[in-house]
This record gives sequence, structure tokens and C-alpha cells, in this order.
Amino acid sequence: MNPIDAAFCKMGLDASEKHVFLCIGPDCCATQDGLAVWEVLKERVAKLGIPTMRTKAACLRVCSGGPWMVVYPEGVWYGALTPEKCHRIAEEHLAAGRPVEEWVARHHPLAGE
Ligand code: FES
Repeated sequence: MNPIDAAFCKMGLDASEKHVFLCIGPDCCATQDGLAVWEVLKERVAKLGIPTMRTKAACLRVCSGGPWMVVYPEGVWYGALTPEKCHRIAEEHLAAGRPVEEWVARHHPLAGE
């Protein structure tokens, strides 16, 4: 296997159904608050066996009211995250496919194939 294919294989790209980007600040939130959410996201995705890729971002260009998360392919944006909110989002949205509507800031699915 070539190194690029090996990297895709290692990240679980082919099995992934979603991709979550989480901004950990520093402008939308304190980095320590973003990192606390990131740790819950990592733990929940692993524990629940959710086929989801995770990317820690330094900015999603909102820059206030964070930490911000966007979930693709559906394009659901959540702000003002806490570890507790992330726990519920992982279980209801990422694992069960039901966005937590009371916390959704925007729905913006990108055009697909
Ligand atoms: S720093 Fe988080 S959206 Fe810009």
C-alpha cells in the first residue's frame, strides 16, 4: 500500500459517514474550553464506535460565541458548546442521526453529487 492510501486507511476515510470540525479558539472561546469539548468528542466517538472523522480547527470564521462545531455532510452548525452539550450531540446527532435542533445555529448542507 502506498503512503497516501495507508494514511487514508489509518484515518478511516472509507468507513466515515460524517466529518466533524471543531474550533478550539482562541477568538470564539478560550482554548481550554475548546479543548475540553474536543476531549469529549474524541471519547464519545471512540466509545460509541461512530464512523466519524474529527478535525480540530483553529478557526471556523465565526470568531465569537464558540466553541463552534460543524457536522458534514448535513452542514449543521452548533455554537456555545460545552462538554455536556457535546456529549448529547455525539449520542443524538452523530450516533443516531438526529441533530439536536434546540442548539442548531444554522443548517447549511453543501451541494453534493
Ligand atoms: S476562533 Fe473559533 S470560529 Fe474563529
